[in-house]
Amino acid sequence: MIKTQGLSKRFRDIVAVDRLDLEIPPGEIFGFLGPNGAGKTTTVKLLTGLLRPSAGRAWVGGFDVQTHPREAKRILALVPDQPYVYPQLTGKEFLRLVGDFYEVDLSHQKKKIPEFLEMFELGEWGDQLVETYSHGMRQKLVLAGVLLHQPRVLFLDEPMVGLDPKSARLVKDVFRNLAGKGVSIFMCTHVLEIAEKLCHRIGIVQEGRLGLVGSTEELRRKADSSGSLEDVFLRLTGGDEYHELLKYL
Ligand SMILES: Nc1ncnc2c1ncn2[C@@H]1O[C@H](COP(=O)(O)OP(=O)(O)O)[C@@H](O)[C@H]1O
Ligand SMILES: [Mg+2]
Repeated sequence: MIKTQGLSKRFRDIVAVDRLDLEIPPGEIFGFLGPNGAGKTTTVKLLTGLLRPSAGRAWVGGFDVQTHPREAKRILALVPDQPYVYPQLTGKEFLRLVGDFYEVDLSHQKKKIPEFLEMFELGEWGDQLVETYSHGMRQKLVLAGVLLHQPRVLFLDEPMVGLDPKSARLVKDVFRNLAGKGVSIFMCTHVLEIAEKLCHRIGIVQEGRLGLVGSTEELRRKADSSGSLEDVFLRLTGGDEYHELLKYL
């Protein structure tokens, strides 16, 4: 459902994404992990057609994102790291806008919008302006919008930031459920514990290069570590070098 070949993005002298080769089948939850600045958000922007690659190609659902952007965008959804929602719309108005934009059948919208608001505990907020929502509530509203148009491929950039524990649990269940229905999920996250519990496969990216890809078990084996994903991650990304720096404290 997602495929890249030599996908690269350069910003002047920075190589943000460096010859990425990836294939993600239907129903897979793929965790894209890496330190700050590794190129995760840039990759998501390339895969969703928000940025043009410097080299290489990307396909979503078999459609080349560059040459067939309309077809690709019709079946994908993106939850960006900043949940941008027009502040002067109410929650319901926002969902109607999303529904109309994706040409979702009106009767489906009428049925689903109240259900999704209820599910995300926004039932009493549907008629309030989004500007009164917290970050986590906006995040959930964006997710409700995503569910409304039933994408086959879902991109999530740090989806758990700002969610309280109950909402985070709900959202995880929603992702599992979608994957069970064949939706492919590409998720950037810093939260290793979530990646470990939720993702079928994990890719670790560093300075734009995809290092290791595999299940948590496979990564552990490759990193020669019996520890948690955090240990594996820090070992692979050299993140334990900070121990040296503690002497400056
Ligand atoms: N629009 C841009 N112009 C110049 N450099 C950028 C731009 N967007 C991202 N970068 C750089 O590309 C690298 C990867 O950034 P990003 O994809 O946001 O990383 P991540 O999401 O993994 O934290 C960083 O060095 C960042 O500074
Ligand atoms: Mg990012």
